[in-house]
Amino acid sequence: MAAPDKAIAKLRAEIEKHDRLYYKSAQPVIDDQAYDRLKAELAALEAAHPSFEFEDSPTQSVGDDRLESFESYQHRLPMLSLDNTYSQEELIEFGQRLEKRFPDQALKYLVEPKIDGVAVSLTYEKGEFVRAVSRGNGTEGDDISSNVRHIEGLPDCIADAPDVLEVRGEIYMLHEEFERINVTREAESQALYANPRNLAAGTIKLLDPAEARARKLDIVLYGVGACEPARFFSHQAEIQERLKAWGFPVLEKIWLTDGIEQAWSSIEELDTLRQKFSYPTDGAVVKLDDFRLQEEAGFTSKAPRWAIAYKFEAERAETLLKEISLQIGRTGVVTPVAILEPVQLAGTTVSRATLHNEDEIRRKDIRPGDTVLVQKAGEIIPQVLGVVKSKRPADSQAFDFGQHLRDLGIVAERDPDGAAWRIVSKDDPIRQQRALQHFASRACMDIENLGSAVVEQLVDRGLVKDIADLYALTKEQLLELDKFAEKSAQNLVDALEVSKQRALWQLIHGLGIPHVGKQSAKDLEAHFVTLDHIARASEEDLEEVDGIGSIMAQSIHAWFSDGTNDSLIHRLRDFGLNFDAQRSAQSNGKLSGKILVLTGTLPTLTRSEATDLIEKAGGRTSSSVSKKTDYVVAGEASGSKYAKAVKLGVAILDEPAFLALVQ
Ligand code: IVH
Repeated sequence: MAAPDKAIAKLRAEIEKHDRLYYKSAQPVIDDQAYDRLKAELAALEAAHPSFEFEDSPTQSVGDDRLESFESYQHRLPMLSLDNTYSQEELIEFGQRLEKRFPDQALKYLVEPKIDGVAVSLTYEKGEFVRAVSRGNGTEGDDISSNVRHIEGLPDCIADAPDVLEVRGEIYMLHEEFERINVTREAESQALYANPRNLAAGTIKLLDPAEARARKLDIVLYGVGACEPARFFSHQAEIQERLKAWGFPVLEKIWLTDGIEQAWSSIEELDTLRQKFSYPTDGAVVKLDDFRLQEEAGFTSKAPRWAIAYKFEAERAETLLKEISLQIGRTGVVTPVAILEPVQLAGTTVSRATLHNEDEIRRKDIRPGDTVLVQKAGEIIPQVLGVVKSKRPADSQAFDFGQHLRDLGIVAERDPDGAAWRIVSKDDPIRQQRALQHFASRACMDIENLGSAVVEQLVDRGLVKDIADLYALTKEQLLELDKFAEKSAQNLVDALEVSKQRALWQLIHGLGIPHVGKQSAKDLEAHFVTLDHIARASEEDLEEVDGIGSIMAQSIHAWFSDGTNDSLIHRLRDFGLNFDAQRSAQSNGKLSGKILVLTGTLPTLTRSEATDLIEKAGGRTSSSVSKKTDYVVAGEASGSKYAKAVKLGVAILDEPAFLALVQ
């Protein structure tokens, strides 16, 4: 074994490297559990060899997210970290330590979900929001106000507030938003974010606030730092109520428990409920409830002695990677996907996992035939963590991405400044097929009878090269395709005819403009009303749309300025496709022209089911409550949007009332 000084120095350097990647670059290369293991290993070594100076050790600090481009700000009260554990036994020991310290007290603990987001401290002075600051090094953080103040549900001012108040919580990103952004980044061959937490961390540190605004962040508050005059609170459990009354989004559920054993039962209950929460959770935080006792228990250099984080193990499994298949996106980007021997993970069967790009495969040296370790990051997307090298077949060879492309006859180039391979030529039949499949898909023009096999034949036979060509197809041409007869040919002709009347946003989405997903298409429709207005809009005009940042604005402007696309639009117009939002609104629908906002968890409907019902009734959904909102449909835990609806006097519906309205 290495001498302890060498081992300690090596571990410290390694942990510092991971701290930089996690806190400063928001691009960690190992998962939380692996990181926590390194830290535990270092802490054990340091404890066994106390002679090695460890004031500067990463075990004694909270990491540091500060960047030079931001102004830093001193927290009035430091933002500390928490000791964490993955073991029930250690959690009980934490309780026993406190029982020993306070033998005469019946200790109550508050159990809270631990949110997997980015810590933030909001300062309010005389009830007015003045600043948002990142945790930084715990003492001093970056002023991220411009990227935070627009987060929905954050009150600008609070009533009956203390003179100075620091409210503490986490900024996070919903999984849908994470997916939306990664899909567009993929299309632009930019590096993908590994999980919503990293993307949220990257977003609050963007230098362009318009860009940050285009990514939807959410926030939840659970604590208080400085509070002047002091003693507004005497127990942890009051904070939640108080924050809620001030209009902050708060935790959906907390447990006030008697003793550490009961706290453990609540953690178990939390584990069964947490998938339904709107924010990602990676554990529970157990806090002594009584502030007087908290004060007496005190702190170590980085964490309170009165609280502990219990982290849930991410579910992992070993399985065989059967092959690496290549998926081609609508703009020609090639994404490698691991095809796995199906395996049970966190309650679902996993048979595919994204491998992101060539560099990721090379870094982890992933090869077909390998046994790999898969994990559901944030409990949702399966990830290949690494290879079980001991199980690698003797004849295995490193995966050659370029060769694999050539073997499959895919003509692609690697982006000079990115990690993605892309089919560059618009004349490439595979790229044409993907663009057509995207156009015909449910999320776009929803053209029945135009599945992948039909698209493939149409392109192979040279009948269709772009989306406008679809509308020139004749029944006779279709009859020549495999498996087409009188009826199926007529059905497709009819389906294409019907599609001409689709809502404008469906067409916008279907055009395949890089970066523009379904929600952005809806935002564009709502703002500009006609396709011609969008086509004529300047980058500045486009940036004015809520939800459209500078990169997307640039991309939309560039797309419409391209001569080929201009003639494509002309041809679509000549074929009679709907370019006008007013024409497409279901004027006879019960919600025709109405704007609804969904918030909280509804008892039976999912978000997308409720959205479908609204759109079928001619209405439209928006993500934020404003004076233009006609109804807010509110489920459980609908804090800030609900509060805003009340403030603006917008009608609020629960699920039964909503169903009565649409059905
Ligand atoms: S209390 C003095 N409660 O987890 C301790 N922290 O790993 C203050 N976190 O720094 C923290 N959910 O950024 C607390 N319900 C919760 C939390 C929570 C997430 C974060 C927080 C903290 C980190 C420690």
